[in-house]
Amino acid sequence: MAVTRTFSIIKPDATRRNLTGAVTKMLEEAGLRVVASKRIQMTKEQAEGFYAVHKERPFFGELVDFMISGPVVVQVLEGENAVKANRDVMGATNPADADEGTIRKAYAESIEANSVHGSDSDENAKIEIDFFFNEDEIVG
Ligand code: CMP
Repeated sequence: MAVTRTFSIIKPDATRRNLTGAVTKMLEEAGLRVVASKRIQMTKEQAEGFYAVHKERPFFGELVDFMISGPVVVQVLEGENAVKANRDVMGATNPADADEGTIRKAYAESIEANSVHGSDSDENAKIEIDFFFNEDEIVG
């Protein structure tokens, strides 16, 4: 297994409840290292661009509105097989289906307010990291 990178967002429902540290602790305990992190207020254009792949979905407008409803923390995570390690600790998209011990089981409020986003492939991780970070902001 190789050390790889993935991209994570701590979503507005989690920042609103002051859970940035609690979520990050679970990421770190899963073997992931935060090699870049910034708290930002996404613009509508950024949220629409980031989630462009979902733009035909019926929930697209609500998803964008939710993602700009408060600050988010965007992070680059590094670790062995980082995409899978992150997805395993995040749990299922819908918290009703999430396993015990996952971030979404512990903290998510709904399928929309599900506390975290994580890249679903190495390819998308690179695209998503490049969307929010310059290489000189990532310090491994
Ligand atoms: P995320 O991993 O950030 O990628 C797309 C997001 O869309 C997903 O997490 C969910 O939060 C959200 N999502 C997926 N399905 C639905 C749905 N049926 N209704 C509302 N939001 C959804």
